[in-house]
Amino acid sequence: MSKILIVGASGTVGTELVRQLRSKGHTVLRSTSKSTLESDQVHLNLQTKAGLDTAFVGIDKAFFLSPPGYVNQNELLIPLIDEARKQSLKKVVLMTAMGANAVDSTPFRQAEIHLEKSGLSYNIIRPNWFMQNFNSFWLHGILHDTKVALPVGDAKASFIDARDIASVAAVLLDDDVRFQNQAFDLTGETAISHAQAASVISNAIAKSIKFEDITPQAMRETLLGAGLPADYTEFLLMILDYLKQGAAERVTDTVQTITGKAPIAFEAYARDYRNAWV
Ligand SMILES: NC(=O)c1ccc[n+]([C@@H]2O[C@H](COP(=O)([O-])OP(=O)(O)OC[C@H]3O[C@@H](n4cnc5c(N)ncnc54)[C@H](OP(=O)(O)O)[C@@H]3O)[C@@H](O)[C@H]2O)c1
Repeated sequence: MSKILIVGASGTVGTELVRQLRSKGHTVLRSTSKSTLESDQVHLNLQTKAGLDTAFVGIDKAFFLSPPGYVNQNELLIPLIDEARKQSLKKVVLMTAMGANAVDSTPFRQAEIHLEKSGLSYNIIRPNWFMQNFNSFWLHGILHDTKVALPVGDAKASFIDARDIASVAAVLLDDDVRFQNQAFDLTGETAISHAQAASVISNAIAKSIKFEDITPQAMRETLLGAGLPADYTEFLLMILDYLKQGAAERVTDTVQTITGKAPIAFEAYARDYRNAWV
């Protein structure tokens, strides 16, 4: 059994990953940027680098992600990779995003390349758009306006349930050696439009939720109005445009291959999370 450091442990993927690794018998150290710590937590702030020299003490393996809100993902992730190499970790699993490897110069890809060249044993997982965005980022619109308003038209996305992402990461961080040094694009089993997703949620909660196709400028105003930094707003608009162009439609079989289970369907996600929307 290993001692595993989880960056982003209190987040959507991290919470479930911690649960699954513990159920497999591993010891988990949860990193947090907050200063008040629980007994299984360690302070680590990727922006200030505080805690970087202490978080890895006694650690065998680690899971890394870059928190949302930052566009300099390489600057946040590369120091983690360097520290993992310094401490001779047995394995690092890095989560980026589907499409991150399209262009080598992007910050996410720069972090991936750094890991690939590090000499560490690694996996890179690149999930598609999360189903859980509907109960987090798009929740306000659903609760207050009964709609999901995005500049994506009728493009489809093979949304993935974050619980499946965690299941994949848990297998890769376990003692499995089948997938050494490989990268995986993670998707759900079918691609659906945001209008179809809204319809599935409507059925789950017996209330009509509509999709509205809006302009990028309207989206920009919403995001800036919600207090998002200008650079992160433009990053989101860029990846929403990729979605609109069809870049998120592809379906892979990697969840099934790695976990041995079919990906969670959007209908099951909507049933499991229905209390979020009422
Ligand atoms: N949402 C999507 O559709 C989607 C799709 C593909 C890829 N992704 C990628 O998924 C990642 C986000 O994963 P998630 O949704 O599971 O995360 P999340 O729920 O947003 O949680 C973010 C985590 O980061 C930690 N954190 C925040 N600021 C930090 C800092 N300065 N230093 C260290 N830790 C910090 C938070 O914990 P504390 O507050 O305790 O520090 C929290 O655990 C991003 O890299 C994103 O690009 C998302």
